[in-house]
Amino acid sequence: MTGAVAVRDRLAADVRRDLGRPRKQLQPRYLYDALGSRLFEAICALPEYRITRAEQRLLAAHAGAIGAGLAGPVTIVELGAGSGEKLAQIVEPLMEARVPVRVELVDVSATALDLAALTLSRWPDLPVTGHRTTYEDGIERVAARRRGEGAVLAAFLGSNIGNLDPAESRAFVGAVRSGLRRGDRFLLGTDLVKPEAELELAYDDPLGVTAAFNLNVLARLNRELGADFDLDAFAHRAVWNAAASRMEMHLESLRAQTVEIPGAGFSVDFSEGESIWTESSYKYETESVRELGAAAGLAVTRQWVDERDRFALTTFEPREFAP
Ligand code: AVJ
Repeated sequence: MTGAVAVRDRLAADVRRDLGRPRKQLQPRYLYDALGSRLFEAICALPEYRITRAEQRLLAAHAGAIGAGLAGPVTIVELGAGSGEKLAQIVEPLMEARVPVRVELVDVSATALDLAALTLSRWPDLPVTGHRTTYEDGIERVAARRRGEGAVLAAFLGSNIGNLDPAESRAFVGAVRSGLRRGDRFLLGTDLVKPEAELELAYDDPLGVTAAFNLNVLARLNRELGADFDLDAFAHRAVWNAAASRMEMHLESLRAQTVEIPGAGFSVDFSEGESIWTESSYKYETESVRELGAAAGLAVTRQWVDERDRFALTTFEPREFAP
């Protein structure tokens, strides 16, 4: 079986399961195909979506402190490769201090790995290794390849942790912790709770880029599974769920309808007003970030908050004894 076929079989199985649930949903990772990833890049440029710029400002202001004191050679592991620009900010002061650095990128997307590697090629002597795999597997691989003295700086940026529900985020941070030793560090970027109106604008922008990003998942099912979703018959909805501290994206069916999905071997009925839940973006408080680390045996060493846009960068170190 070729990779492409395996990926489509997985998509078909997930779609059949998740659209067959009483509360229909789709896995958020299916938003990020080639077009979806470009639409997300466009979201980052929207005035209403402030996460990316807030994080870049914090990185620019504190890059030196983020890597300071780590024993060389430093291995920077970025979970979720992104464009490489954020990583470049962290690499820069280490290179200037002549600390030997190598970079390990972990992402399921080959496009993301290539883009990040290209950005980092501005330092021709910087060794960059890509791991096209899941975060957990990447953490294990990097830990297994480790030799010698140098420290590991693991980074999970962009509030990507927001896609994980509480159980998943605990498991993720636990996996990060188990890949770290004394003297290592973990850098986490988290969006913070802010007024509901600001959150709703960030996830339902007037230009409709986020709506296009969300609807693209249906277009993808049309493209890849031969489905016949009528994109005009679904509407983008962004809802703040205060009890769960998360933004939710939904696609609401504007009428009763049946959609055929031949590539998944089934059809699905929608009633008017019924929705598909496509993504969650959990919002944190500085204290809940601290607790998330503590539950996994990580202690906060520094925390920087952009008060204007309510975003936090936090560094952790492994506590001597895991809980
Ligand atoms: C890439 C998961 C951090 O949740 O803010 C942006 C994705 N969805 N607008 C986020 C997203 C809608 C984004 N993350």
